[in-house]
Amino acid sequence: MDLKDKKIVLGVTGGIAAYKAPGICSLLRKAGAKVKVVMTQAATEFISPLTFRTMTDNLVYTEMFNDHPVVAEVDHIELAKWADIIVIAPASGNTIAKIAYGIADNLLTSMMLAYRCPVIIVPAMNTYMLNNPATRQNLQTLRDRGMIVLGTHIDLLACNDVGDGKMLEPYEIVDEIDTALRVKDLAGKKFLISAGPTIEAIDPVRYLTNHSSGKMGYELAREAYKRGAEVTLVSGPTALQPPKVSKLINIKSTQDLFDAVNENFDQTDVLIMAAAPADFKPKDKSSQKIKKEEKDEMTLNLAPNPDVLKTMGQKKKGQVLVGFAAESENELVYGQKKIQKKNLDMIVINNITAKDAGFKTDTNKVFIVDRDLKVEDLKLMTKTDLANVILDRTLEKLK
Ligand code: CTP
Repeated sequence: MDLKDKKIVLGVTGGIAAYKAPGICSLLRKAGAKVKVVMTQAATEFISPLTFRTMTDNLVYTEMFNDHPVVAEVDHIELAKWADIIVIAPASGNTIAKIAYGIADNLLTSMMLAYRCPVIIVPAMNTYMLNNPATRQNLQTLRDRGMIVLGTHIDLLACNDVGDGKMLEPYEIVDEIDTALRVKDLAGKKFLISAGPTIEAIDPVRYLTNHSSGKMGYELAREAYKRGAEVTLVSGPTALQPPKVSKLINIKSTQDLFDAVNENFDQTDVLIMAAAPADFKPKDKSSQKIKKEEKDEMTLNLAPNPDVLKTMGQKKKGQVLVGFAAESENELVYGQKKIQKKNLDMIVINNITAKDAGFKTDTNKVFIVDRDLKVEDLKLMTKTDLANVILDRTLEKLK
């Protein structure tokens, strides 16, 4: 998240989804953004301005004409000038229509005649209202004007219909705000990123796996996408919500991972292997559940899996290859060897025994080593920040 000191005007219109808008304010404030809320009269029927006043620590704007002393200029013009981005969430069919036609009959719609920054429209309404040709056309008009129109979820709606029209969740909206405000320094670049563990079936019930949570790979994919890259994420089974990317490929085994990476490799500019593939798999997978019977002991024979990164290292034609090495001892020595062995441009090495680093944590402490064995000893940081450092170094290699 890169929203520190960003100035955000949140427009709230009349709809039941208005109850979720304070959640957006809360996430924005936590990310260090400054938020001013503009409400339509209908929105105040659903939620009190005092809620937003408290959550944003700013005045809440509801009236077209007022005499509050702190603003010298006309509110709708001042707000439009102040904003780095305007987000309307929820955006009702009525307000969408007014903006499309340039109607300025309240503070929010007047501001939408005076805006000069990026705009995100977050629709929320009943399925039939959303699918009405008028709404469809109005949303297209806003898209054609360069506004970002977000989608909706299908769910049980407040009107008791099950259908399309539920507003995105606050965290999804905040992610979109962050994306819209980012510098697109990776635009035009194709990234293939792997994440998470693999699982190797023993029988239909059991499997072999490892402790990888997928967090590091997911942060890399999320941040690369926000910075404008075309991102294909190849993910092993994880408990995480996948980030928004260009293409998501779910895999299970190391062989699946190999196939997915191999198929996409020729078209990519960068391959980042943050996945933790199993090096071995059960030699003979049983098609039926293995019975315990009267055995005292059981032996599992293992056969090697392909080394995805090493194979791509042999195949590469100009692609930048980034590997990871999670070690429990002598991390620099083992990590550096992997650069040569797998023909990498860069490796990210961590010691999984270090505090707050490695599997399942939100932070990591790593060394980044490049082909010339230049070592960068990074401080403990969040996996999101680390993802951006890795992407910065990758961009240098791409140049
Ligand atoms: N990797 C891979 N295919 C494998 C195993 C690992 O592509 N079958 C990749 C990982 O995604 C990582 C890098 O290779 O980017 C190093 O993984 P690691 O498990 O540390 O290395 P190994 O070569 O498996 O060596 P070892 O297990 O002996 O440490």
